[in-house]
Amino acid sequence: MAEKREMLYEGKAKKVFVTSEPELIWIEFKDDATAFDGVKKERIDEKGALNNSISTLLFEMLEREGVETQMVRKLSGTEMLAKKLEIIPVEVIVRNFATGSLSKRLGIEEGKELSPTVLEFCLKDDELHDPMLNRYHIFAMDFAAPEELAEMEKQALRINGILAPYLLEKGITLVDFKLEFGRYRDRIILGDEITPDTCRFWNTGTMFTIFLRIS
Ligand SMILES: Nc1ncnc2c1ncn2[C@@H]1O[C@H](COP(=O)(O)OP(=O)(O)O)[C@@H](O)[C@H]1O
Ligand SMILES: [Mg+2]
Repeated sequence: MAEKREMLYEGKAKKVFVTSEPELIWIEFKDDATAFDGVKKERIDEKGALNNSISTLLFEMLEREGVETQMVRKLSGTEMLAKKLEIIPVEVIVRNFATGSLSKRLGIEEGKELSPTVLEFCLKDDELHDPMLNRYHIFAMDFAAPEELAEMEKQALRINGILAPYLLEKGITLVDFKLEFGRYRDRIILGDEITPDTCRFWNTGTMFTIFLRIS
């Protein structure tokens, strides 16, 4: 039984603690909501608990479909026990429909369906506002090895292939989302969270609606 020890780091959405088990971390989902890379900040009651529940539900669903995730188990309303990953500083963005920065950058009408699904990579760095990377940047800076990036791409598309139809069945269109992967033993596995903070949906108002619809 892993015991909670000192805090390893605190991010915008979660606090991460080491545990008595070197390979496991204790994650606490916070009620803080941030925008503009953490510049704007507010508290939303129950957000931590909802995000923990949503992530748990989706990670468990992915595991049932054969995708390995960080998830070990839910510990409490706002806490999760997870595998401790060496996070790769490359965020993988999966886009099924054009919106936001993609529409703006390329002049594509908002809402256009993207086929094939578009993958983008961004450097995980708030101070630099998560700049976009291509594979040359990733390999030249040694952010990830070619085999690792290939594995991340394969898993990201697989995850999209599971999540998008699952959510659509509940009346939720998965427009785009962000994934973080990390190294664990000799494998690359999915970490962080899958929540309304990291996904853009249509047909949905609040986090609570999403939780009620998918739970
Ligand atoms: N399984 C994991 N093992 C180690 N670190 C993780 C894991 N999952 C997420 N993290 C890291 O925990 C930190 C806190 O998460 P979060 O609050 O979302 O941070 P951020 O403000 O960078 O978005 C992030 O740096 C994230 O990459
Ligand atoms: Mg985060």
